[in-house]
Amino acid sequence: MTVVINMRDGVDKEKIRIAARFILDGKLVAFPTETVYGLGADALNEKAVKRIFEAKGRPPDNPLIVHISDFDDLRKLASDVPREARLLAERFWPGPLTVVLPKREEVPYATTGGLDTVAVRMPAHPIALALIKASTPIAAPSANISGKPSPTLAEHVIDDFYGRIECIIDGGETKIGVESTVIDLSSERPTLLRPGGLPLEEVEKVIGEVEIHPAVRGKLVDVARSPGMKYKHYSPNAQVIVVEGRRENVRKKIAELVEEYRAKGFRVGVMATEEYAADEFFHLGKTEEEVARNLFRALRELDKKGVDVIIAEGVEEKGLGFAVMNRLRKAAGYRIVWA
Ligand code: TXA
Ligand code: MG
Repeated sequence: MTVVINMRDGVDKEKIRIAARFILDGKLVAFPTETVYGLGADALNEKAVKRIFEAKGRPPDNPLIVHISDFDDLRKLASDVPREARLLAERFWPGPLTVVLPKREEVPYATTGGLDTVAVRMPAHPIALALIKASTPIAAPSANISGKPSPTLAEHVIDDFYGRIECIIDGGETKIGVESTVIDLSSERPTLLRPGGLPLEEVEKVIGEVEIHPAVRGKLVDVARSPGMKYKHYSPNAQVIVVEGRRENVRKKIAELVEEYRAKGFRVGVMATEEYAADEFFHLGKTEEEVARNLFRALRELDKKGVDVIIAEGVEEKGLGFAVMNRLRKAAGYRIVWA
């Protein structure tokens, strides 16, 4: 029932036509973007969009991002495009930035989780752009079962959705590895709703200071503006523990924790930027970019290896590190050890 289309060698027009047909027929198509894989449906087709929520097990009040391939599409979705939105779109699209704007009537409430705003982005991936161009604006959350780590490989999507959706396009590993940065431009002051693949520092260079929604830091207040923030996220089956602090201290603390949990009879996995002795180890790489790219894959792979506990090394909260730490702390259910 699921057609898996191999497009690892680049865009194939004939295959794109097949996938676009599914979208236009109200079916679900998972496809790669530069951030993570998305689970797509026609954004203006209420019935199709509802199937996304069913397939993911996603609460209906958690709104979806609408993906476009053309700047003109923005005006078809948003009733007002303020100056900040124009500036950001010109500078960063296609790219890992989502803007939240007041929605037009044509956008169904199913897509926006009942909100009067719509989240829009233009992804920087040739397959995603070709698919949208050949069909229509596509609503797409990350292509994972709700609450699981986002998918960065077609294999992850297959694990979660094979047999449950019509089509999966395999475009290889996604480049950025964390989801888009979400900025709300529908209210008084630009507000960061989710740190992501575009560093906040870059956004602020273009529109000045951006407020950070308290929920970004894990404070569960006023979640009405981005209901996604209130749900459990990125959780593998294993218990995740994040170790944060000064580098030398972190190194010592992780080694201690590994021993402590092993002594209790647990199988322990470590994900970090340097080598550790543990039952399982996933090297995240050295640079910010590598860590972001490997993050979700590490959580999924350590989980598959059946560890009981995953100890994750914290990184500096700047640039892509902001998004990385946001995902890690959520994955850990805010179980953080300060070293
Ligand atoms: O990189 C990405 O953004 C990926 C790829 C597939 O494009 N998509 C993605 O979608 O991460 P999802 O559904 O996993 O996350 C969308 C986030 C959620 O936190 C949601 O609450 C927020 O965007 N969001 C969507 N529409 C919104 C709206 N109208 N107002 C506030 N937040 C919104
Ligand atoms: Mg998601």
